[in-house]
Amino acid sequence: MSKITTTMIEMALSHVDDPDLGQSLTQLGMIENISVNGLKVSFDLVLTTPACPMKSKMKEDCINAIHEYVDRNAEVTVNLTSRKVEEPDPADMFPNIKHTILVASGKGGVGKSTVAVNLAVSLAKTGAKVGLIDADIYGPSIPIMFNVNHQDIFGENHDGKTYMVPVEKYGIKLMSVGFLVDPEKALVWRGPMASGALKQLLTETWWDEIDYLVVDMPPGTGDIQLTIAQTLPVTGAIIVSTPQRVALADVVRGVEMFQNPNIGIPVLGFVENMAYFTPAELPDNRYYIFGREGCSKLAKEMDITLLGQIPLVQSIAESGDSGKPVALWSEQPTPESEAFMEVAQNTIKEICKLEKK
Ligand SMILES: Nc1ncnc2c1ncn2[C@@H]1O[C@H](COP(=O)(O)OP(=O)(O)O)[C@@H](O)[C@H]1O
Ligand SMILES: [Mg+2]
Repeated sequence: MSKITTTMIEMALSHVDDPDLGQSLTQLGMIENISVNGLKVSFDLVLTTPACPMKSKMKEDCINAIHEYVDRNAEVTVNLTSRKVEEPDPADMFPNIKHTILVASGKGGVGKSTVAVNLAVSLAKTGAKVGLIDADIYGPSIPIMFNVNHQDIFGENHDGKTYMVPVEKYGIKLMSVGFLVDPEKALVWRGPMASGALKQLLTETWWDEIDYLVVDMPPGTGDIQLTIAQTLPVTGAIIVSTPQRVALADVVRGVEMFQNPNIGIPVLGFVENMAYFTPAELPDNRYYIFGREGCSKLAKEMDITLLGQIPLVQSIAESGDSGKPVALWSEQPTPESEAFMEVAQNTIKEICKLEKK
């Protein structure tokens, strides 16, 4: 029998495909350090991630290929390794941002943007420097809610690179995926386009000193949410829900995503939106249209802080379209502006608690 050579091993392994990518392991550069000593053959199989679910199948395919194409008696050792991807530490990339707060929800339409916008406004009212990112690629709404559009965006040079400068309105620095593309079209983006624009938004915006950066997240608990969570230096997440039972299952999923040990983002608390309806002419009456305190009860069960309850009121819906958030300064505080201020103050408290840990 002829002597086994590294070329023969390479040839044999060129018959093995990565099941996900459909290309051979040799073509993909996943085989390294082949060594041969008599019948003993060993090499590294370099995976994209150590948790690759296909790793045992690929290992087995490699051994079979060598037995088939080279020598049935070869003693094959496959060392599974993975390339360490050097991800930049988000905290180094955003040195000017003190705290980043994700405003998330499992479902769309529960009032995530409404809460994110009015939380940002209320935080700014406490004297903090506030930024707001509209990362909802499925339905960016900050351009309308603040009545600003992409024409207001400028570029600025820093260290030889051009960054986008957030638009400032009501003292808040704003950035939206809606500034990069037509918000009407965002809905029909294909995944890669959407995540490309999002990545640009997250990494190519120049933030000056910011105490609180509020992020209006896309609804759901998938890859896009994870990308955002891992790109920004996140302090914690707020989950918005209505009291409806159908919405609560999504809340639990949201908590699980953030608290997953690989993500490790603290949940600052829940905001129960549309908690009750109060007609303007009967300010003391409360009607529990979506059920009573579903989200508050869940918060207790899960040992998570309820940051506040927001009533369902016409002024909130109207303010979404008028470009003037309800939480803005007014001569008299309104029940709506007070409800959002409570959310802001409780959020600050939760962040302080985290810092003491
Ligand atoms: N508490 C509320 N009272 C009245 N209308 C509300 C309230 N919260 C949200 N809305 C309205 O419900 C719709 C969905 O809210 P939005 O904040 O855009 O949800 P999401 O960002 O979760 O999709 C908007 O038209 C908004 O004005
Ligand atoms: Mg929204």
